[in-house]
Amino acid sequence: MPAETRSLADDVVAITGATSGIGAAAAHQLVDAGAKVVLGARGAEGVDKLVAELGEENAVGVACDVRDPADCQRLIAAGVRKFGRLTGLVANAGIGAYGGILDYDDELITRMIETNFSGTVWAVRAAVPVLLEAGGGDIVVLSSVAGLRGGADEAVYAATKFAQVGLAGAMDRELREKGIRVTAVCPAGVSTEFAMGLGRTPGMPALDDYLQADDVAFAITTVLRQPRRLRTTQWALWSNGQSS
Ligand SMILES: NC(=O)c1ccc[n+]([C@@H]2O[C@H](COP(=O)([O-])OP(=O)(O)OC[C@H]3O[C@@H](n4cnc5c(N)ncnc54)[C@H](OP(=O)(O)O)[C@@H]3O)[C@@H](O)[C@H]2O)c1
Repeated sequence: MPAETRSLADDVVAITGATSGIGAAAAHQLVDAGAKVVLGARGAEGVDKLVAELGEENAVGVACDVRDPADCQRLIAAGVRKFGRLTGLVANAGIGAYGGILDYDDELITRMIETNFSGTVWAVRAAVPVLLEAGGGDIVVLSSVAGLRGGADEAVYAATKFAQVGLAGAMDRELREKGIRVTAVCPAGVSTEFAMGLGRTPGMPALDDYLQADDVAFAITTVLRQPRRLRTTQWALWSNGQSS
């Protein structure tokens, strides 16, 4: 008999980098599935707009720069204050830059490492005590296929994404027995603001073969909906038009 999916009606899920692309799509799908969401991004205006779209009964938002541990603590605290608990974290905030190893400037390298890697660590450290209080829950780390095999012209970005995969794997081994499932979701190129650059422009036909933000949000929602006796430690996803 196939396993039944888990209801998200009692779930409260924090999402970093929630106002655009994958984060915003996940917020919509999770609320459609019955969960409450706790939304963070640097831009307060984007956060307020998304809360208004989703309804204040379903969402709360905080301006949160994941590079600042105190901001991550404030995000999680706002969720607990509004909804009484937290059952999940989607550590999604991330930035990308492409170019040879000598092409990046020092400031951009620092910003990428601090956002993609340190920011994931700070968000996780804020969430874990509260997830443990709730008796367990889910952490989804938004890495990339670049975190499984780094390509040319993305060395530092790939390294930050490898670091997230390593973090997620080690946390799975640390937290599984405490009821926290940890998943690294690793998409190929997704047609979002992030994917622009390198000669890509919005609407260009090559982007038709890319994943859509909703495809990745589907993976995130599916991971959370697994019955509690299952867990997925890594989910790499491509569209059928993308080669692996
Ligand atoms: N798009 C792709 O091709 C692709 C492929 C594989 C993996 N990914 C991963 O998926 C994740 C989301 O990417 P996306 O394509 O959805 O990007 P996106 O459309 O550019 O959205 C990025 C989100 O992160 C927020 N953000 C940026 N810096 C932040 C910071 N320091 N603190 C908090 N929030 C911050 C942005 O809002 P503010 O600017 O207001 O902060 C925005 O809400 C990233 O981790 C990325 O590495 C993307």
